[in-house]
Amino acid sequence: MRHVTLEQIFQHPIAQKYINRSGMVHAIAVAYHAFRLANEHGLSVDLAVKAGFLHDIGHYTWYRDGKWDYELYKTNDIHAVKGAERAHKLLIRLGEDPRIAKEIALAILFHTDSFLPSRPIELNSLQSIIKQADEMDEEPGGQHHYRTISYDKALKAIQRLDELVDRTLNQREYVNKYEQA
Ligand SMILES: [Fe+2]
Repeated sequence: MRHVTLEQIFQHPIAQKYINRSGMVHAIAVAYHAFRLANEHGLSVDLAVKAGFLHDIGHYTWYRDGKWDYELYKTNDIHAVKGAERAHKLLIRLGEDPRIAKEIALAILFHTDSFLPSRPIELNSLQSIIKQADEMDEEPGGQHHYRTISYDKALKAIQRLDELVDRTLNQREYVNKYEQA
């Protein structure tokens, strides 16, 4: 049983505000990649889709002369840090299990090492699939942040992913019961 669905997260005004800023199409694409990777690696699909969908929620708009400046962003960005905190707050408010909220926040924190001064960090499985899922949908020059989608289309994609997660969780539960019997 999941505490919070992806649709609840999607519908929340905070998610709408910040994920539309960083790219709704990218967020949904990464959530789907994360679902597939988690499934392949036998990890929690619930955590993976939520972390994938929320991974860029911390983006700030780096404007210079009214235009988004990619260089300014690359130098000053801490979106992984901000995103981890923002996603955590949102999940807790929606009633997420605090252990799950923490795991998701850490996967968001480590989905990129762009903010780290040096020394790579050893990632756990969830953290490393969210990083991979993000890289699968990236385009040069940050173009993946600009693809747009209608609210209705985005909602349908989110509901479909919720169904896939539920089906996968039910299947795994069934297999576990069968194996234990
Ligand atoms: Fe991303």
